[in-house]
Amino acid sequence: MKLAIGNDHTAVDLKNIVMAHLKERGVEVVNVGTDTTESFDYPVSGFRVGKLVASGEVDGGVLICGTGVGISLAANKVPGVRACVCSEPYTAALSKRHNDANIIAFGARVVGDEMAKLIVDSWLDASYEGGRHARRVGLITEIEKTGNLSAILAD
Ligand code: RB5
Repeated sequence: MKLAIGNDHTAVDLKNIVMAHLKERGVEVVNVGTDTTESFDYPVSGFRVGKLVASGEVDGGVLICGTGVGISLAANKVPGVRACVCSEPYTAALSKRHNDANIIAFGARVVGDEMAKLIVDSWLDASYEGGRHARRVGLITEIEKTGNLSAILAD
């Protein structure tokens, strides 16, 4: 498995901890974030990871900024990305099982080192369930591709 990871200046230490954890799990990691604490615009990392995920060059992505919000918003502007901000492992697992999240995001100012590892593990260990969820994820994709939702336009 190959994952891309990106961050801003608030999350250099946590990014390094998460990268080491992923490597221990046998995951190949492509680091496209900043490695210094100099102010860094999170949309750059969000976009880079989003492109790598959407193109299929990597199997998924991990994004970390102060809260996980800005960096995931940026990644979600790349078509094909489903980036979810999660502050605990339950939501992380469900984001994969129900929403087919291909990027997990969290905040270095929100979660501690061990919680970050749990969040990543829960997301990685979960599998997309498809079934009834596939229709809903499909509706999200329809909005992304067309800017519309035929189901409600027909109402
Ligand atoms: C940087 O100060 C902060 O705004 C950023 O890390 C992130 O939390 C944005 O959503």
